[in-house]
Amino acid sequence: MRIRPLGVTPENNIPQVQLILGSQWGDEGKGKIVDLLGKDAEVVARYQGGPNAGHTVEFDGEQFILHHIPSGILRPHTQCIIGNGVVVDPAYIMEEIDELQARGIEVMGRLFISQNAHLILDYHKALEEAIESGNGNQKIGTTRRGIGPAYSDKTGRIGVRMQDLLDPDRLREKVHHNVVLKNAMIEKVFHAQPVKESHIMALLKQFTERIKDSITDTAWMLNDSIRKKKKVLLEGAQGTMLDVDFGTFPYVTSSNTTVGGAFTGLGVSPHSVDRIIGIVKAYTTRVGNGPLPTELTGETGERLRKIGSEFGATTGRPRRCGWFDATVIRYAAQISGLDTAVITKLDVLDDFDEIKLCTGYRYQGKMLDFFPTNQVVLEGIEPVYETMTGWKTSIRNTRSFGDLPEAAKNYVYRMEELTGVPISLVSVGPGREETISLE
Ligand code: IMP
Repeated sequence: MRIRPLGVTPENNIPQVQLILGSQWGDEGKGKIVDLLGKDAEVVARYQGGPNAGHTVEFDGEQFILHHIPSGILRPHTQCIIGNGVVVDPAYIMEEIDELQARGIEVMGRLFISQNAHLILDYHKALEEAIESGNGNQKIGTTRRGIGPAYSDKTGRIGVRMQDLLDPDRLREKVHHNVVLKNAMIEKVFHAQPVKESHIMALLKQFTERIKDSITDTAWMLNDSIRKKKKVLLEGAQGTMLDVDFGTFPYVTSSNTTVGGAFTGLGVSPHSVDRIIGIVKAYTTRVGNGPLPTELTGETGERLRKIGSEFGATTGRPRRCGWFDATVIRYAAQISGLDTAVITKLDVLDDFDEIKLCTGYRYQGKMLDFFPTNQVVLEGIEPVYETMTGWKTSIRNTRSFGDLPEAAKNYVYRMEELTGVPISLVSVGPGREETISLE
């Protein structure tokens, strides 16, 4: 067994700009880690996704689930940015702000939204509902938050942006044009209920009143903060395998969840990032349809779901569960250049006699040690496992790596060996304090 300490950065030398992203299919526990690292951050910026995300943070016995707003909002000293790469649902974000404010978290004056971020409007949600409902067994299993249709309008160059809210004539014209176009599709193609332009305009009026002072050039703001040597966290949503380019297409979300999404979604340079942190759950989950090579459909999967409370934070849907897949993390590390990994939910494995890790895949009798991006190959692979002994004791009160049971240490060491990514933090429970630093 190796003696070298895990981790890469001494505590007194926190990198100035850190980027946090999910390494699996989302729900790795990014919210807790952003909140934790937010202790030292002055700015936290979210770069892609929208209200499909559900970042859960627990402290002082309270639980917060954030959808658009960066988890940094729970640290009173941070400024929070929603970048141009995010899609914003006006009704939803107003509810989110109201809930935070009602619970004593100051939001206005600390939250800044990119003037170039696109809006999710009623017709996006109506279209997605119609597409997903009618798709038979081709369903993606989306969150039905209008994410895909909103990003389609962005790349189709007809989307409505935050800055349009400040330009009433242009806003009216754009919304009208889109409503006519989308209602034709909704009614004629999907035979569903059209959306009301008056409803959208009334909502946008209310939204503009509330949010106008928060709309700004966040790319400039963020670069200025970086120039002034402020500590910055860049926060991704979802995970590597849901990336529209590198994930298990078409069972993906509509944005770049991997490292590139941070640069296009915020307008910062790759040179400005000092450390890239991959969040890695100690086992694997996915919500929605599509490939999940290590999925456990029987009793073991059910146990993981129950112990790990694996139900979607946004939709409440049960998550599909499986053993840890090192191939997926190697793939995430390759694409996003992970400097370090944070392991979450290790405590969920406390009660298992045996724990399996997928080391690679077998395909047509040959071993593959990388994640196949060809859909035909992916459909034909069989995961190859190695089995480790469980530790059979609660680790939730453990606060130092040395105090973990040998079997738990061995499991973490093995994850590190198989993925090649140094581990810097292990989370053993949802609370801020339920964390083991290896740095
Ligand atoms: P969409 O992002 O709503 O379009 O959904 C596309 C796929 O991404 C579906 O499989 C969703 O379940 C999944 N997905 C979207 N957001 C999240 C998330 O925050 N965590 C986990 N899965 C997500």
